[in-house]
Amino acid sequence: MKKAIYPGSFDPLTFGHLDIIERSSKIVDELVIGVLNNSAKNSLFSLDERVSMIKEMTKDLPNVTVGSFDGLLVDYMREIGATIIIRGLRAVTDFEYELQIAQSNHVQDPSIETIFLTTNLQYSYLSSTIVKEFASYKGDISKFVPAQFIDRIYEKYEKR
Ligand code: PNS
Repeated sequence: MKKAIYPGSFDPLTFGHLDIIERSSKIVDELVIGVLNNSAKNSLFSLDERVSMIKEMTKDLPNVTVGSFDGLLVDYMREIGATIIIRGLRAVTDFEYELQIAQSNHVQDPSIETIFLTTNLQYSYLSSTIVKEFASYKGDISKFVPAQFIDRIYEKYEKR
């Protein structure tokens, strides 16, 4: 039984994340999307909002669940019994940082392996930061995030 985690901030979830979730859910038995509760980070959406947005978009994927964690990823993985980390690689620029995290997590717990999926070319430029930058100027984000998120994202900037 291969249980994997796809960890991240998901602030907000993008089409790029969804692509990685759909593809990785086909290669592992169970996939947990682990939403980081990073209180130091000034996130646009609260932890509960991020978790429920991801649940909404993954409800039809039978082997996918959504959880949240703070502290170390390796500790959360032990708690839920996951041994595989899924991360998406968009470009070479992601690689150095991702390699460092993968290797340090493996040193912390040698039973943990990281699997990298190369991002679909269609989304290779996309990040939550890009979504927020365009949304903050009321730009078009319809190619970046699911349609039902668009107004929720704009509303966050109207309230600021
Ligand atoms: O969406 P992000 O911000 O690229 O995700 C980064 C994440 C959540 C994978 C990483 O920051 C993480 O695992 N944080 C938890 C703390 C931890 O385990 N740190 C050691 C490895 S960096």
